Amino acid sequence: MTLSRGMITTFLGILLIGVIIGCSGERSRADDKKKRKPRPKTEKKVEKEETNDQEEERTVPPEQLAKAKELISNAENLDDIDAKKLFKLNCSVCHGIKGNLMVNGAKDLTASKIGLEESVAQVYFGKGLMTPFKGILKDDEIVAVSKYVETMR
Ligand code: HEC
Repeated sequence: MTLSRGMITTFLGILLIGVIIGCSGERSRADDKKKRKPRPKTEKKVEKEETNDQEEERTVPPEQLAKAKELISNAENLDDIDAKKLFKLNCSVCHGIKGNLMVNGAKDLTASKIGLEESVAQVYFGKGLMTPFKGILKDDEIVAVSKYVETMR
């Protein structure tokens, strides 16, 4: 009697331990699922932000476009400017020598479809993570380097 009682207690003990381990295993798996779920959400958010950026890009503020037009029509002696060198010095940090590096969210310039006015506006005023080059490069240099960018496509 005492032996079998002892055996039953041991058996129950093992069973209890098994149940506890089983439960905690499920719990941690449930925790894993909870942890995994938010990930796709943040990815979706990033996608949304990107599409927002692309929408914004199509609408360059009219006053910036007007300034760009002015810069282009006032530009002189563009042939005397070494635009390739200017690009290497000022732009390749983010865009790469060939324009397709895309560091810090920089756009792939070889795939760019924007017009010269928009490019000039973007270089002059900057956008997002791209620094404005107003005052850093001369107005003529901004036009020249924007024209050079078009040759990368
Ligand atoms: C600090 C990093 C950085 C530097 C330096 C930089 N860019 Fe950019 N460039 C960006 C980023 C980021 C974008 C995307 C901006 C956005 O749309 O939010 C961009 C976008 C552009 C675009 C628009 C492309 C398109 O299709 O929308 C042009 C044109 C451009 N850059 C030209 C230049 C030129 C020319 C220079 C040098 C005078 C230059 N960039 C220097 C980061 C940079």
